[in-house]
Amino acid sequence: MTQRDVILREMGLTPLWHDRTATTPPASPPATATRQTLTATAVTARPADPSPASALPDTSRETNRDARINALDWEGLVADIARCTACRLSKTRTHTVPGAGDRTPAWMVVGEAPGENEDKRGEPFVGKAGQLLDAMLAAVGKRRGDGVYIANVIKCRPPGNRNPEPDEIAACAPYLHRQIALAQPKLLLAAGKFSGQTLLGREDTVGAMRATGGQFQGIPVVVTYHPSYLLRSPLEKAKAWDDLMKARALVP
Ligand code: URA
Repeated sequence: MTQRDVILREMGLTPLWHDRTATTPPASPPATATRQTLTATAVTARPADPSPASALPDTSRETNRDARINALDWEGLVADIARCTACRLSKTRTHTVPGAGDRTPAWMVVGEAPGENEDKRGEPFVGKAGQLLDAMLAAVGKRRGDGVYIANVIKCRPPGNRNPEPDEIAACAPYLHRQIALAQPKLLLAAGKFSGQTLLGREDTVGAMRATGGQFQGIPVVVTYHPSYLLRSPLEKAKAWDDLMKARALVP
């Protein structure tokens, strides 16, 4: 039994997560990350949004904010997210969750929004769904922090884990766009409906987006089920496995 088989069995993923196409098992992830990693910084202080343009009409203010965010480097981006007050979620969050992982990744995973654990820690996918995501990545020889960056569409927890509202997604979009521009991943793995819809720019079901995939600014987008959904519907893991195989074929 390979190390990968052991990981899959411990996570309760076998036999569904058996790679039928591989002739050799994927390499085991190294013990320590060798590439530059970004650990999310937990920041509780929330000074006002730095946009000085409160007197401007909405469209000019948004253009100013987009331009400002588009000029940020990684550190500036994390700091800007930490003091963002662009939507109502800033009032209820404990920590912002900017993202974490390899800043020069081959894959960027884009989830939906932080949950309770992520809000407490300021880090993405640290609860049960995160454990499953890590197992899914391990199954294809990948690991967060080593060739993989993990972000969310929304950087603050929606209260009670409700779905994000369209205006919240719109307010957070410049941050995701800047993360993608800075990281320049070769592949975007969209986990769940909101991520797929945000990256592909269309209102569709996960099933439809899985079937077609698409691109975001020339970067291939593979849409798959959200790990939280897979925890509730384990039989769908076989389809998610197909999606991972597709992603790995596009960008090993
Ligand atoms: N679900 C998400 O979509 N993102 C997280 O960070 C955690 C749970």
